[in-house]
Amino acid sequence: MTESEHMQPMLEVYNLSKKFGKNIGVDQLNLILHRGEVVGLLGPNGAGKSTLIKCIVGLLRPSEGEISINGHIRGSRSARQMSAYVPEIPQLYGMLSVWQHLQFITGAYEVENWEEKVEALLKMFEIWDKKDDFVKTLSKGMRQKLSLCCGVISNAPVLFLDEPMVGLDPKAIKNLKDLIQKLKDEGKTLFISTHLLDPIEMVCSRVIVLKKGKIIAEGSLEDLRNQLGEEHASLEEIFLEVTADV
Ligand SMILES: Nc1ncnc2c1ncn2[C@@H]1O[C@H](COP(=O)(O)OP(=O)(O)OP(=O)(O)O)[C@@H](O)[C@H]1O
Ligand SMILES: [Mg+2]
Repeated sequence: MTESEHMQPMLEVYNLSKKFGKNIGVDQLNLILHRGEVVGLLGPNGAGKSTLIKCIVGLLRPSEGEISINGHIRGSRSARQMSAYVPEIPQLYGMLSVWQHLQFITGAYEVENWEEKVEALLKMFEIWDKKDDFVKTLSKGMRQKLSLCCGVISNAPVLFLDEPMVGLDPKAIKNLKDLIQKLKDEGKTLFISTHLLDPIEMVCSRVIVLKKGKIIAEGSLEDLRNQLGEEHASLEEIFLEVTADV
């Protein structure tokens, strides 16, 4: 990848607001993600993380503002083809099997050698033995694993993961962490909302902290530590500090 490709914006969000009646989900937000960046999206419950991601992937219509993915306008066919999304609550079909879900997704994204890739992913998340089972018979964690597999199996260059660690056991969290590192090494752009700071601390090049729909802190961990003047602060300490009510 050349230097100029690296600096090309993969996601551009300009002056985005999303209002729900008098509730504000996202408030005049500006954001740029560059190709190959892994960015963590943090913020307390109700901060607007899921609303922001849903607006970007085309599931919610912004009240105001512009969004484009690799130059394609949000919600367009090309923008959708460029991006994959793992929702905070898995959206799966109870009467389809695990395998059928992945067959469908890989077909839609025209993934080559999909059977091999699906097998490796299901084995990694230890749900290979469930491949022919209907989703309605899976446990909560297994559904989350399948939802993740559906997101990461696509060959989309940008991935939006909304709290991907929720419901996973410690081993699956470790596997997901390794998978995120692998996707990063492949040059994918990742935007990951989470409350679990530890698993993303090492892979994120930058974190964004949202509160009441606005970005209240942004930068590398290094930058945030310097802003706080605390050399050894963990991401957790930084989070508690910046989101504290003053
Ligand atoms: N469909 C909706 N109708 C009305 N208000 C909504 C709707 N969806 C979200 N909101 C409001 O928008 C704000 C942001 O919610 P959002 O779900 O984006 O938060 P979040 O940061 O993802 O929180 P969490 O960490 O709990 O997932 C909240 O005040 C919420 O009540
Ligand atoms: Mg959310």
